[in-house]
Amino acid sequence: MLATLSLFLGLPLALATQSCPPLVPVTFDSTTIPQILGWWFYIAGASRYPPHLEEMRAVKFEAFSFSPGSHEDEINITEIIRMNETCVMRNSKAQVLQQNSTLVHVDDNGVASVARMIQSDKDLLILNHISTDFPNLSLSARTPNVSKEHMEEFKAHLHCLGFTEEDVFHTSTEHACPLPGGEDPQLG
Ligand SMILES: *[C@@H]1O[C@H](CO)[C@@H](O)[C@H](O)[C@H]1NC(C)=O
Ligand SMILES: *[C@@H]1O[C@H](CO)[C@@H](O)[C@H](O)[C@H]1NC(C)=O
Ligand SMILES: *[C@@H]1O[C@H](CO)[C@@H](O)[C@H](O)[C@H]1NC(C)=O
Ligand SMILES: *[C@@H]1O[C@H](CO)[C@@H](O)[C@H](O)[C@H]1NC(C)=O
Ligand SMILES: *[C@@H]1O[C@H](CO)[C@@H](O)[C@H](O)[C@H]1NC(C)=O
Repeated sequence: MLATLSLFLGLPLALATQSCPPLVPVTFDSTTIPQILGWWFYIAGASRYPPHLEEMRAVKFEAFSFSPGSHEDEINITEIIRMNETCVMRNSKAQVLQQNSTLVHVDDNGVASVARMIQSDKDLLILNHISTDFPNLSLSARTPNVSKEHMEEFKAHLHCLGFTEEDVFHTSTEHACPLPGGEDPQLG
């Protein structure tokens, strides 16, 4: 009887937390940036922001590296992307706004996008772009694939933002591009 009651009381809460994990932003401190330096693989993402959507549709594979920039509050970014069929390399910079716990990335066209990092596993990088009002979320990881559990966790976030399975764009290692200098971040 008691077991039934606690099961009954516990179930809705368990279901609620399982289906809608909170999107908790990372509060930046002096250890945040050093922890995200190095190579990442972009795994999946969803957005309702038309310019992002168009790019997500074209990206078949993406590896990117964060390295220290010229200033303390700057990181250099190198992206290796397969856009449709073609591998391209892009260099850019992001500004680290410590007090706002945000990264500001300025693209080739000079358009700034502001992102928050969402708390997650240390080997995952979940970004939420806050510059406009469309729901969006992207998942990157230290390895080109993530565990089933991590993927489920990410999808739970997406479902809570109102995305369905068809809205999610996935990359694939089948479309991997060679990395500069033959670097293999998986082994590094
Ligand atoms: C960062 O990139 C800029 C070019 O955007 C370059 O001049 C600078 O040397 C790079 N910084 C480091 C530490 O590599
Ligand atoms: C990728 O292909 C789509 C469909 O063919 C095209 O509309 C888009 O412009 C292409 N994007 C890039 C960056 O090549
Ligand atoms: C932090 O965010 C506030 C409001 O969003 C903005 O006014 C301010 O300029 C930001 N700080 C910096 C250093 O950009
Ligand atoms: C991304 O989603 C967040 C809410 O999760 C929203 O505040 C933000 O405006 C969205 N950004 C874009 C670029 O659509
Ligand atoms: C990634 O895939 C490889 C090979 O299929 C597998 O051995 C590895 O455990 C996977 N990594 C994760 C984090 O699931």
